[in-house]
Amino acid sequence: MTVLVTGGAGYIGGHMVLALLDAGEKVVVLDDLSTGFRSAVQPPAKLVVGDFGDMALVERIFREHSIDAIAHFAAKIVVPESVTDPLRYYLNNTAKARNLLECATRHKIKHFIFSSTAAVYGEPQSSPIHETDPLVPINPYGRSKLMTEWMLQDTGKAHGLNYVILRYFNVAGADPKGRLGQSTPQATHLIKVAVQAALGFRPGLEVFGNDYPTKDGTCIRDYIQVTDLVAAHLMALEHLRKGGESLICNCGYGKGFSVFEVLDVVKEVSGIDFKVQISARRPGDPASLVAGVGHIKSMLNWTPKYDDLPTIVRQALDWERRLHNKPMREKSSAEDLLAG
Ligand code: UFG
Repeated sequence: MTVLVTGGAGYIGGHMVLALLDAGEKVVVLDDLSTGFRSAVQPPAKLVVGDFGDMALVERIFREHSIDAIAHFAAKIVVPESVTDPLRYYLNNTAKARNLLECATRHKIKHFIFSSTAAVYGEPQSSPIHETDPLVPINPYGRSKLMTEWMLQDTGKAHGLNYVILRYFNVAGADPKGRLGQSTPQATHLIKVAVQAALGFRPGLEVFGNDYPTKDGTCIRDYIQVTDLVAAHLMALEHLRKGGESLICNCGYGKGFSVFEVLDVVKEVSGIDFKVQISARRPGDPASLVAGVGHIKSMLNWTPKYDDLPTIVRQALDWERRLHNKPMREKSSAEDLLAG
């Protein structure tokens, strides 16, 4: 059987493709390359360039391959952008996901693994957050993903599609073997931005708000290493293929770090100081998001391997250096940044 990975040329999806290939799985990637890279998908994985909301294309893939499972990563993921351009998020993360689900039911696909987000909880009332806690997203990104969770649950009940919904906390780091990392141009995620500032690829970094009700006034997040995260997806796939029930699981380590703490680790691991400026709060940011992880550990028997912030930062630094150390002639296109 073959796994269809939407968004498999992107950061997290690309690591999933590597993990699936390492496990001997057959993989078809569907990616429009809007933020992903052709070179992130290496044979024997097959890349189809296109839109996962294009039902004719998706149906063709289902006809041409024996797909038993979909791992759906393709999405828009930047919280502040979702505030300024909400309809883009409702189109990509909700409306197109609906089309994908319709194709999946028509072709009787058995298993669906969905990349959801801690943003579905909004501003949590208690910490750590459990899967059963209230779902009150405070930004369009979280709402666009929550609607897809609901569609998936309803579709699962009506059509016998088994699913695992994984609610990611803050994903960071890179493949420990150095094959892949986060290559997104104009990245906004904290660890990526901080590493770029340390290496001098940005003039410095803005801290968005130091007046939150947290220990040092900056936002607290639970940073999970990307290889650990995709390992949870492989375990979810195995669980479903063995006939396991549909699940919703948080993906994090159950530990929170403030923005200042992350910056300290980046400065310490890199040995480089960089300019930090305090700015106003960024719209849509909850003060603190820390995962309760009992459920994923008990249901999927998931044990993280890289639960260590300095290790995650070191991987991000190594990847960033690789991206920028390519000779200039190789930097003719963004894709080349990833090649080799
Ligand atoms: N931050 C800064 N300066 C920066 C970048 C980020 O201060 O240059 C702060 C943010 O304000 C926030 C924290 O660092 O407080 C983390 O921000 P990120 O942009 O790295 O990540 P988010 O928490 O906004 O969002 C990420 C994913 C979402 C996911 C969420 C869940 O992008 O998909 O984590 O915790 F929903």
